[in-house]
This record gives sequence, structure tokens and C-alpha cells, in this order.
Amino acid sequence: MPTICDTEKNQSHRPHRVGHSLTFFREFVRRPSSIGAIAPSSRHLAEAMVAHARAASARVILEFGAGTGSFTANLLHAMPPEACLVAIEHNPRLCDVLRRRFPDLCIVADSVEHAGRILQEQGLPAACCIVSGLPWASFDEDLQDRLLAATVDALRPQGRFVTFTYAHSLLLPVAKRFRRKIDGLFANVTTSRIVWRNLPPALVYCCTKT
Ligand SMILES: C[S@@+](CC[C@H](N)C(=O)[O-])C[C@H]1O[C@@H](n2cnc3c(N)ncnc32)[C@H](O)[C@@H]1O
Repeated sequence: MPTICDTEKNQSHRPHRVGHSLTFFREFVRRPSSIGAIAPSSRHLAEAMVAHARAASARVILEFGAGTGSFTANLLHAMPPEACLVAIEHNPRLCDVLRRRFPDLCIVADSVEHAGRILQEQGLPAACCIVSGLPWASFDEDLQDRLLAATVDALRPQGRFVTFTYAHSLLLPVAKRFRRKIDGLFANVTTSRIVWRNLPPALVYCCTKT
């Protein structure tokens, strides 16, 4: 694995949770449809996401829309020491937070749409799992399609794509459309129970590639 992606499981995280949440909220006010939530995900949702991704047995992990690092911290804790995590986040201010919080993590300030090229640039094969924080329900159909195509391409066969949806939005047409799309693109899609201890409560979709 290339040294640029070496990550440390024992680095100092220094939560500064209030500061992260304020930065996150400010970015939500600036770009609501890109951020898609008023607060970072809870540790309960992070635990569910990482467990469904089976990060503990992964070699190459991509994180989409890492935000202020709610899932990142759990991924770093769960993954094997030899595994490589690449976090892709296109908001420069949130990338600054991530760099301060995880100084040794491979963070790429770019759109997930370029995930395939990013893997190539890092000298990495297709990912074993992709953990996504992207706000799919805020995206128009064209953007959903482009980002989902990049997701499927960046995942190895039998790889897992794990994402979440807010429980209150499940019946919205945009959320139903997203579900139909992942059902069409992946061999298998499972839905978790509702994670109530998240603001707002959420469910995890776990999608396995053919
Ligand atoms: C709902 S937030 C989730 C942040 C974090 N994963 C969490 O759960 O707290 C969505 C994140 O996706 C990022 N994002 C949105 N579209 C993106 C894209 N095309 N490429 C990379 N990041 C994107 C936003 O900047 C934001 O940080």
C-alpha cells in the first residue's frame, strides 16, 4: 500500500465536537443541498454504517462526503492496520476540519464523481467497501446517476456500498427513486432497522455489487 494512504489507528482525535458541529451547520447554511443535514451524524449511526460495511476485513476503503469525520473516526478504529482509507470530501472548509482532526489520513478535496481517478492516482485497486455520507435525496436525478455510476465503478465485485437515508424522508418521491436506482444497480440491497439515536433518525442501506 502506498505511504500516502497510511493511516494511524492511534492518532489523537481531540473531538472538539461543538466546534465541528458549528462549522458543519455554517456550511449547511451556505450550501444546504450539498451538505444535506444540519448536524453531523451520531456515533450510533457511525457504528451501524461501519458494521454494515464490514470495514474490519477490508483492505481498501473509500469514504464519500466525510464532512467533519463522524464516520471516519469509526472507520479508522475498525479497519485492519494494513488497510487503506481514502476520504473524499469536496467542501474545502470541511476538508480543513478533517485535516486537523486526522493529520495522517488520505483526504482528497474533490467530488466523488472522480472516485475512479482518485483510486488510480493513489495506486489503489477498486474498493472493498464504500461508506457514503452523501445526501442523495438532495441531489437531482442527473447528479444521482453520475455519482452512483462512479460508485459502482469504484467498487470491486462483491464489494459493499453503505449509505443512509433519513427515516422521515422514506416516502418522498426522491427517496423512492434513489431506492429504485440502487435496487437496479446492485445485486442485493438490505435495509437496517431505524437508528433512532441520530438527528434525524436514519436507516442504513447496505448494497452488494455483483
Ligand atoms: C450529510 S453530510 C455527511 C457528513 C458526514 N459523513 C456525517 O455523516 O456527519 C454530506 C457531506 O457530503 C459532502 N458532499 C456532497 N456532495 C459531494 C460530492 N459530490 N463529492 C464529495 N463530497 C460531497 C458534503 O460536503 C458533506 O460534507
